[in-house]
Amino acid sequence: MRKYVIKMWRSSKGGQEYANIYNMSKKVFLSGVQPSGRPHIGNYFGAMKQFVDLQNEHEGYVFIADYHALHSLRNPKEMNENIKSVLLDYLAIGLDPEKVTFFKQSDISEHTELAWIFDTIITMPYLMRAHAFKDAQAKDKEIDVGTFNYPVLMAADILLYGPDLVPVGADQKQHVEIARDIAEKFNRTYGETFKLPDPMIMKDMAVVPGTDGRKMSKSYGNTIPLFAEREEIKKAVMSIVTDSGEGIPKNVYAIHKLFRSENELKKVYTEKAGKYKELKELLIADLEKFIAPLRERRKEFAKDIPRALSILKAGSEKAKKIAGQKMNEVRERVGVNVYKNSEK
Ligand code: ADP
Ligand code: TRP
Repeated sequence: MRKYVIKMWRSSKGGQEYANIYNMSKKVFLSGVQPSGRPHIGNYFGAMKQFVDLQNEHEGYVFIADYHALHSLRNPKEMNENIKSVLLDYLAIGLDPEKVTFFKQSDISEHTELAWIFDTIITMPYLMRAHAFKDAQAKDKEIDVGTFNYPVLMAADILLYGPDLVPVGADQKQHVEIARDIAEKFNRTYGETFKLPDPMIMKDMAVVPGTDGRKMSKSYGNTIPLFAEREEIKKAVMSIVTDSGEGIPKNVYAIHKLFRSENELKKVYTEKAGKYKELKELLIADLEKFIAPLRERRKEFAKDIPRALSILKAGSEKAKKIAGQKMNEVRERVGVNVYKNSEK
């Protein structure tokens, strides 16, 4: 939590008088997003939207986790395009660079540096309990060290900036808990240095279902893209698997719930029970109404990529200062700073 001194004006009897000087505390949030291709509405409701909602009341840090993405994306051209694409996505959904520091992980070498220091204090059996590692192991995949160490880099991402909250989808909760464990262990070993962050999961939106009823995910090919063109929306909705109870197509309803209240929906779905085509058409119309303005804003930002990149660069410069200070403290703590008093 960072401290701010805010001057307040209080009105009294028709006039305004200068009131107390308050010491207000603004909470800090931080989150990262992998440049792994086009976002879908699951990413939006599960994670992205929260950043926009939080930015008015909080100090925010949102970054592009490009080094994390390297473990699955090894095409340099695609990486480069995806980074720019995710930048446009966030500007389009209304992330305000005046309120949120938007930066790129690979611009701040302190992230990987701190991850190394963390590597030296945590054990392999501990990291072997992480879901992502266990999943990869269960699939008999050849696991690269980056995948194994993924939560450690994520801990460094978080702890460098001392956030109060880390808004993420439910699948990332364990990673935030690992960051807390690492912070505790470092603090126990070297003295109080890192603040323990809390994950923040939006309850109703915890898992947005995809067109096949499983979790919506790029890797399942069951998504509705956040910036979809009208035809794409149509195609995705028409492909929704309609297994139903009493004429109510469960998967259509589950996605529809994101855009209308349950009361409203129950009425419509009861009236149109069994009429799958009509219900899908209604969902297409609701999706289009929601997506069209976002899609248009994104097109506007895409007209001036150098401007978008200058926003990112300025964000990285600001983040670098904060991360640099924290890293100096860490170097001091672990005892590698020999220069400090050397002039004396
Ligand atoms: P994907 O599974 O499509 O590859 P990512 O792993 O890139 O998505 O997730 C990016 C962010 O969006 C994470 O915070 C994640 O928890 C959230 N997220 C992804 N899919 C969903 C979903 N179906 N419902 C809610 N949140 C999601
Ligand atoms: N692992 C996150 C994801 O896949 C992205 C991420 C990287 C992140 N570092 C982070 C999220 C730090 C929150 C905080 O979505």
